[in-house]
Amino acid sequence: MPNLPEWPYPRLVAHRGGGSLAPENTLNAMRCGSLHGFKMVEFDVKLTADQHSILLHDATLERTTNGAGTAGDWTLSELEKLDAGSWYSDAFAGEPIPTLTAIAQFTLAHGMDSNVEIKPTPGMESLTGALVARQALKDWAGSKSPPLLSSFSVASLKAAMIEAPELPRAYLIDVLPENWQDILAELKCVSVHLKHTSVTHAVVRKVHDAGHRLAVWTVNDPVRAQELLSWGVDAVITDAIDRISPV
Ligand code: G3P
Ligand code: MG
Repeated sequence: MPNLPEWPYPRLVAHRGGGSLAPENTLNAMRCGSLHGFKMVEFDVKLTADQHSILLHDATLERTTNGAGTAGDWTLSELEKLDAGSWYSDAFAGEPIPTLTAIAQFTLAHGMDSNVEIKPTPGMESLTGALVARQALKDWAGSKSPPLLSSFSVASLKAAMIEAPELPRAYLIDVLPENWQDILAELKCVSVHLKHTSVTHAVVRKVHDAGHRLAVWTVNDPVRAQELLSWGVDAVITDAIDRISPV
């Protein structure tokens, strides 16, 4: 097996901060992940209309906030007024959409690593990759382990590589495509992040033999998580943060 790239990250990662136990991609989700013993969180980042990096999974606001329309059409100050907690439960009413900077401050203060998933508004792939990478470079300046930037978008990863070549990158995809090695080589990715249902022991060996790390998402069955870990996957991203827990 060739030398694998450096991987300073823990093997269990809380998906969208707090998995299914808190409103996704909020500061309280990160707090929830931290309280459950997680030392790494994954979250989704896109741009506001005035080009700030914020956490939100969907391109539109309806599912996880009381706003409407395309998130990328609204400015940061408009988006910060929205409620991103009530959709989940009344206990989280008033929870705002956070900036990447606020989340970096929280995770760094709590000794947590971050997997920043670049989730561009459709049509904004390159700009989002570049500006999220630039912001991450600033927000994690001087930290001992860098944020891991991942994306389904090749254009976003390419722009991130040009903007911040020193930040590690991961290619996100459901199933390994034919040309996966070419893509990983072109984007100089340390890892590939696969949908766990497409991963067998042979896939783990194939990725490692090619000199890359492998993370899997979103694994919510503890038995399956154990199986994947026993095969040597480098990270398991989970929503079941109370049942698949580092503690
Ligand atoms: O990064 C892994 C996973 O979050 C990718 O899918 O849609 O949950 O962002 P999604
Ligand atoms: Mg994600």
